[in-house]
Amino acid sequence: MGSRFSFFLFFTFFFLCNFSHLSIAQRLNFTSFNGSISPWSPTQNQTLLSPNSEFSAGFLSVPNSRNQFNFSVWFTKVPSNAVVWSAKSSVNSSDAIVFDSSASLTINSRGQLLLNDSSGKILWTPENPSTNSSSATLFLDNRGNLKFGSWESFQFPTNTFLPNQSIQETIFSLNGKFKFVNSLNLVLNSTSDQYYSTPSPLKSMDEAGRVDMVSSFFLTSDYGDTRLRKLVLDDDGNLRIYSFYPEEQNQWKMVWVALQEQCKIKGKCGANAICMPGEDSYSSTYCVCPSGFIENPGGVQQSGCSRRTQLTTNTKFLRLDYVNFTSNTGQMTQIEARNFTFCEARCSSDPECLGFGFKYDGSAYCVVLKQLLFGYWSPGTETALFLKVDRSETATSNFTGMTEILQTTCPVQISLPLPPKDSNTTTRNIVIICTLFAAELISGIAFFWSFLKRYIKYRDMATTLGLELLPAGGPKRFSYSELKAATNDFSNLIGKGGFGDVYKGELSDHRIVAVKCLKNVTGGDREFWAEVTIIARMHHLNLVRLWGFCAEKGQRILVYEYIPGGSLDKYLFRRRVVPVNSNGEEATPGHDPVPDPNTMQKPILDWNVRYRIALGVARAIAYLHEECLEWVLHCDIKPENILLGDDFCPKISDFGLAKLRKKQDMVTMSRRRGTPGYMAPEWITTEPITSKADVYSFGMVLLELVTGIRNFEIQGSEMKSEEWYFPGWAYDKMFKETRVEDILDNEIKYCYDSRAHFDLVTRMVKTAMWCLQDRPELRPTMGKVAKMLEGTVEIMEPKKPTVFFLGGE
Ligand SMILES: *[C@@H]1O[C@H](CO)[C@@H](O)[C@H](O)[C@H]1NC(C)=O
Ligand SMILES: *[C@@H]1O[C@H](CO)[C@@H](O)[C@H](O)[C@H]1NC(C)=O
Ligand SMILES: *[C@@H]1O[C@H](CO)[C@@H](O)[C@H](O)[C@H]1NC(C)=O
Ligand SMILES: *[C@@H]1O[C@H](CO)[C@@H](O)[C@H](O)[C@H]1NC(C)=O
Ligand SMILES: *[C@@H]1O[C@H](CO)[C@@H](O)[C@H](O)[C@H]1NC(C)=O
Ligand SMILES: *[C@@H]1O[C@H](CO)[C@@H](O)[C@H](O)[C@H]1NC(C)=O
Ligand SMILES: *[C@@H]1O[C@H](CO)[C@@H](O)[C@H](O)[C@H]1NC(C)=O
Ligand SMILES: *[C@@H]1O[C@H](CO)[C@@H](O)[C@H](O)[C@H]1NC(C)=O
Ligand SMILES: *[C@@H]1O[C@H](CO)[C@@H](O)[C@H](O)[C@H]1NC(C)=O
Ligand SMILES: *[C@@H]1O[C@H](CO)[C@@H](O)[C@H](O)[C@H]1NC(C)=O
Ligand SMILES: *[C@@H]1O[C@H](CO)[C@@H](O)[C@H](O)[C@H]1NC(C)=O
Ligand SMILES: *[C@@H]1O[C@H](CO)[C@@H](O)[C@H](O)[C@H]1NC(C)=O
Repeated sequence: MGSRFSFFLFFTFFFLCNFSHLSIAQRLNFTSFNGSISPWSPTQNQTLLSPNSEFSAGFLSVPNSRNQFNFSVWFTKVPSNAVVWSAKSSVNSSDAIVFDSSASLTINSRGQLLLNDSSGKILWTPENPSTNSSSATLFLDNRGNLKFGSWESFQFPTNTFLPNQSIQETIFSLNGKFKFVNSLNLVLNSTSDQYYSTPSPLKSMDEAGRVDMVSSFFLTSDYGDTRLRKLVLDDDGNLRIYSFYPEEQNQWKMVWVALQEQCKIKGKCGANAICMPGEDSYSSTYCVCPSGFIENPGGVQQSGCSRRTQLTTNTKFLRLDYVNFTSNTGQMTQIEARNFTFCEARCSSDPECLGFGFKYDGSAYCVVLKQLLFGYWSPGTETALFLKVDRSETATSNFTGMTEILQTTCPVQISLPLPPKDSNTTTRNIVIICTLFAAELISGIAFFWSFLKRYIKYRDMATTLGLELLPAGGPKRFSYSELKAATNDFSNLIGKGGFGDVYKGELSDHRIVAVKCLKNVTGGDREFWAEVTIIARMHHLNLVRLWGFCAEKGQRILVYEYIPGGSLDKYLFRRRVVPVNSNGEEATPGHDPVPDPNTMQKPILDWNVRYRIALGVARAIAYLHEECLEWVLHCDIKPENILLGDDFCPKISDFGLAKLRKKQDMVTMSRRRGTPGYMAPEWITTEPITSKADVYSFGMVLLELVTGIRNFEIQGSEMKSEEWYFPGWAYDKMFKETRVEDILDNEIKYCYDSRAHFDLVTRMVKTAMWCLQDRPELRPTMGKVAKMLEGTVEIMEPKKPTVFFLGGE
């Protein structure tokens, strides 16, 4: 009885508690606001909830000001940056209406929603709500749209668009500096200067991360998951899409961004100043004055720079590499100029001309500037700016050294001699190569290292080169007949890769392309499309660019830029060409190599170029692994997949394709191709394949760059042994016998000067040894590998890679 009673008591107590809790909840959270519960004031602590509780609306206290509020909509369950809408004073303003706690929101008898202060002054009212007095309620729908009659907050966005919201109205950044107009253009509000436009006007975004445009659409990097998402015009002037990851410390992750290079946003710096990418090239920037200019009292960012010496009629030009000024329209004139002299003369003779931009690619690009506004430095410009200064000006440009930095990734101009035809020319050419290299070293190295330290961060900018060229709408979709016409009915076969055959072609716009017909691709059209979009989004100077695709009649075709230089193996293994058998498949290694007259034409790569190739490839893989919003493994790194572009700039091909295959297929494919030597041990174990598998493959390529020996080619008597393992052999020569010369490529051994090259070569070999460690966790990340090659981190003594055999078929 007693226990029954206490149970009853307990139950009542529980019920009461629960009830009172409910009643508080009712008081604090409501699903609609109407005349019967009006007024609503900030002190009531009441929140209007959407039926699914995802969104809340109500009064928020404004930070850093006591007793000040605004009226906003926010994501209920998001701890930071949750606000998506605030009541503004006008559509052409970015300012939220801010008021104190005496104000209240009321619905009067005529069905008007009013926010008024204690004196009765109306602070805010929805624009043309057209309601009936009887049915007037304010409510928040499941999409975060606040509605009152026909009025919707979605029609009056502040700085954010939500999924399912029509992207139509102009939004301002909260600081009012920037605006996004016509769902197309990013504009600096104060001057109406545009700095970005989407390929076609945006229409709306969905919860899975697809953004529809008028003529096409694009996907966010995490496309597919249903998440809380928002498209925001940030205070730095960039337009970004964020996704909310409750499972990863409740953070918003950026999954799309309009401008990869922050400095291209106008208004970052004052007049005459140049915007530079900061340490973290994706978000921070800072401003510097060009040579001959000094900072104005208000600071470079606000007030810009002014001349040290006023211009007289006697002037000269200072060259600033990779600098572009994008002054107001009307203040810059593009003129037709066949040559540099013409451009220079034109600017010299015009007293209004303050400088000119010149592009060194024969495109006759010459821009005469009458204003020096919105200057920025970016390797993507491929332009030099010639700044007019007074002849008495003594300052020298400090923007030239950056050219050298870029050369570590991709040289601007190098010409290598063709390989020797007979012994006489051999000697001559070796002399030429060595002299060239020595000259490059002497003139370069002092110069180079002094800048290297200072401009190390700009180097990373090279990685973003060309990012702007990516159409936000994703890759172009080609029809099968278009590609058939472009490749002349697939007649010009230029390569056979693991993923399919490659044909050379020419598009109707005269672009030369490499068309790859994929084999054994699983998945439907939609999955394929999604993957291709992700691949196309990966832009890096050292990645082959994907221009389009075709998915028709069961065909899976990728259209890439054509890289004329061919693949690295043709340069590296010139005397040891693997014969191609009648099926077009490469024969298994071990045959006596037959020199192929075609490959004999490829020039010898000198140490400097090999180093640059290594660095470029390392950076591109690091980009795929770490910097891409999408985490991408290459899974098939080998010399055949490293193409050499102009000036031997390395370009990785076939990246991202591994996603279209399963692990089993990858193993079989690589075995059949006879390239097991590049596969990390975990490929044949049950261990998961991580980015460290790519690191292993890269290590192998790096060692091959130094030795000129294909890792699985058995050569010479001492290498005949079954136990011979290429990395182990190189390790012993390098660290046990300390006979570096023994592993160097015979072709350029004569060029090796231990004083000049020891450091470079040692760095390459040590890095390779770390990459080739048997255990994935012992291998460095690709980002670290790039740093090791650069020489910006110390490289510890590596352990010897132990014997690893993939075993026979
Ligand atoms: C009001 O709603 C929010 C969000 O659903 C919830 O976290 C909160 O507990 C509710 N308030 C009360 C008093 O129940
Ligand atoms: C007004 O809102 C309250 C609380 O949300 C609700 O109980 C009531 O039925 C509403 N009245 C009208 C007329 O809609
Ligand atoms: C509203 O919240 C504040 C701070 O949490 C509190 O001081 C105040 O008493 C609350 N007001 C009401 C009416 O509950
Ligand atoms: C309104 O106040 C909230 C909370 O302080 C703030 O996050 C939001 O940015 C404000 N809205 C505007 C448009 O300033
Ligand atoms: C806002 O600005 C645009 C363009 O400047 C103008 O056309 C429009 O009339 C303005 N609207 C209001 C309400 O001031
Ligand atoms: C705001 O205006 C409404 C209707 O005009 C009125 O009923 C209410 O008292 C006013 N509120 C204040 C705080 O003056
Ligand atoms: C007002 O209410 C009446 C009856 O409920 C309805 O017929 C009419 O369409 C409403 N008008 C507006 C503008 O909502
Ligand atoms: C958004 O729109 C799509 C298609 O119009 C619809 O299927 C989906 O339910 C909408 N989502 C919400 C939250 O209303
Ligand atoms: C944008 O510029 C216009 C015209 O200069 C100005 O009237 C308006 O106040 C500015 N908007 C913001 C949000 O600063
Ligand atoms: C170039 O030199 C000027 C003056 O010496 C200096 O103010 C500026 O910061 C330098 N620029 C860079 C990019 O280092
Ligand atoms: C440069 O081009 C101009 C015309 O564009 C021509 O007259 C001149 O001869 C050219 N100079 C040189 C050095 O080629
Ligand atoms: C320099 O900026 C102008 C204006 O935005 C642009 O048209 C031009 O293409 C830029 N030059 C280069 C080489 O990028």
